[in-house]
Amino acid sequence: MPVRVGSRSAQPPFDWADQATWAPALAGTAAAYVSYVPDLGVPGSPAAIASFAETAVNGGTRRLVLLSGRGEEGALRAEKALEASGAEWTVVRCSWFNQNFSESLFLSQVLAGEVALPTDGVPEPFVDTDGIADVAVAALTEDGYEGRVYELTGPRLITFGQAVAEIADATGRPIRYSPISMAQFTAGLAEEGTPEDLAALLTYLFGDVMDGRNAYLTDGVRQALGREPRDFGDYARETAATGVWAA
Ligand SMILES: NC(=O)c1ccc[n+]([C@@H]2O[C@H](COP(=O)([O-])OP(=O)(O)OC[C@H]3O[C@@H](n4cnc5c(N)ncnc54)[C@H](OP(=O)(O)O)[C@@H]3O)[C@@H](O)[C@H]2O)c1
Repeated sequence: MPVRVGSRSAQPPFDWADQATWAPALAGTAAAYVSYVPDLGVPGSPAAIASFAETAVNGGTRRLVLLSGRGEEGALRAEKALEASGAEWTVVRCSWFNQNFSESLFLSQVLAGEVALPTDGVPEPFVDTDGIADVAVAALTEDGYEGRVYELTGPRLITFGQAVAEIADATGRPIRYSPISMAQFTAGLAEEGTPEDLAALLTYLFGDVMDGRNAYLTDGVRQALGREPRDFGDYARETAATGVWAA
């Protein structure tokens, strides 16, 4: 199937911050996977999703699959905005991604040998983005997913400390997890020059959302695909073999 990427570096570019780019990026498409940046938990996301869905449906992109978060009020409001839009909608709610450790947020800390976060031992059911992608593709291209909310987690609840230990085992490198306080975390973000809006988002995610409300498993991957989700240990071993965590 022909596929078009929608992001600022794509052609034509798509930018959540510039509504004029939305219709050209959607032109001629029948379905779209909607991943809001930086996060549906930030103020303004429900309005953005409502406007985006209106643009899409008016232009003929009728099927919309929304990547959503767990336990965030803003995400729930954005889901409601999508449901009210007249689109053929599917919501895919996800826990923290495995790939944060190898492709984004935590990669630099893993490479430096110390991951320091204010998680207070709260366990998280990390989910693999390969499974999320499979669910999204099914919902975009097959019938039977419309009007449903899938909540995706991995198969195990583990703490950030356990996740880092499993990565250290898989790589054979000494990588340690250091629990820090919220005050140390926010001071570190300021020291690193983290942009204010990203710092506010991370403070919200670690300070509010990671209070135990999401510390449970769901069977969303099995419901959507009829198979089990990938385990964090398999992710760690297979990712270590790619060399991305080599010192
Ligand atoms: N990470 C997690 O654990 C997690 C868990 C649950 C849900 N989510 C949700 O997943 C979504 C993506 O998060 P992520 O962690 O994958 O983010 P990410 O790794 O930072 O990915 C950002 C992507 O978005 C594009 N992008 C950045 N700014 C953009 C803009 N203004 N307009 C259009 N595209 C833009 C970037 O491409 P360009 O640079 O080319 O624009 C890049 O491809 C968010 O809605 C987040 O809430 C994440």
